[in-house]
Amino acid sequence: MATERLFIAIPLPPALREELAKLYEPLPGVAWTRPEQLHLTLRFLGDVEPALAAAAEAALAHVRVEAFILPVGGVGGFPSRGMPRVLWTGVAQGHPRLYQLRQRIDDALLGAGLTLDVRRFHPHATLARMRPEAAAGAVEQFLRRHRTFEAAPFRADVFRLYASELAPAGAVHSVKREFALTAPA
Ligand code: 2AM
Repeated sequence: MATERLFIAIPLPPALREELAKLYEPLPGVAWTRPEQLHLTLRFLGDVEPALAAAAEAALAHVRVEAFILPVGGVGGFPSRGMPRVLWTGVAQGHPRLYQLRQRIDDALLGAGLTLDVRRFHPHATLARMRPEAAAGAVEQFLRRHRTFEAAPFRADVFRLYASELAPAGAVHSVKREFALTAPA
């Protein structure tokens, strides 16, 4: 079996996805995330060998963190200076349990033998990616108009291991396994 491009994320519930998709507007060169794929990434693993993927999946099943409420709001660009490559909405005052969840996931993955990068965690959901022809002025205007956007908070009660297949029309995500967020016994 071949390697798979894996990541771990919290899926956004339908009502929130709908709310976010209302921000979408036709801007040249801006590729909006398919609403059904909107998610908050906790860990990107990249290409993983099947045996290591199976070990990661088994380890993730032991992660115990209680469900929590997350406020979603603000719209910004990465990088924050100059022309952004992505547009995102953030988790402004992320619940401490979000960081606890990420830490427990990292512990589980390290225990399973995966290598993790040490980049800072900026919890967000990617709303769009820029193509080279995106117009800086229109993107700036969009950001200015939506900077103070606030969505209704949502209850994070699951996280998922996803496979991401790169395709010309954008990555296609499939759920490999869903894990419930439950209090430790
Ligand atoms: P994003 O949320 O900023 O778009 C699937 O591709 C998920 O993993 C996306 O949510 C994406 O981040 C994240 N991702 C993709 N490539 C990555 C990389 N090289 N480093 C960190 N995260 C990455």
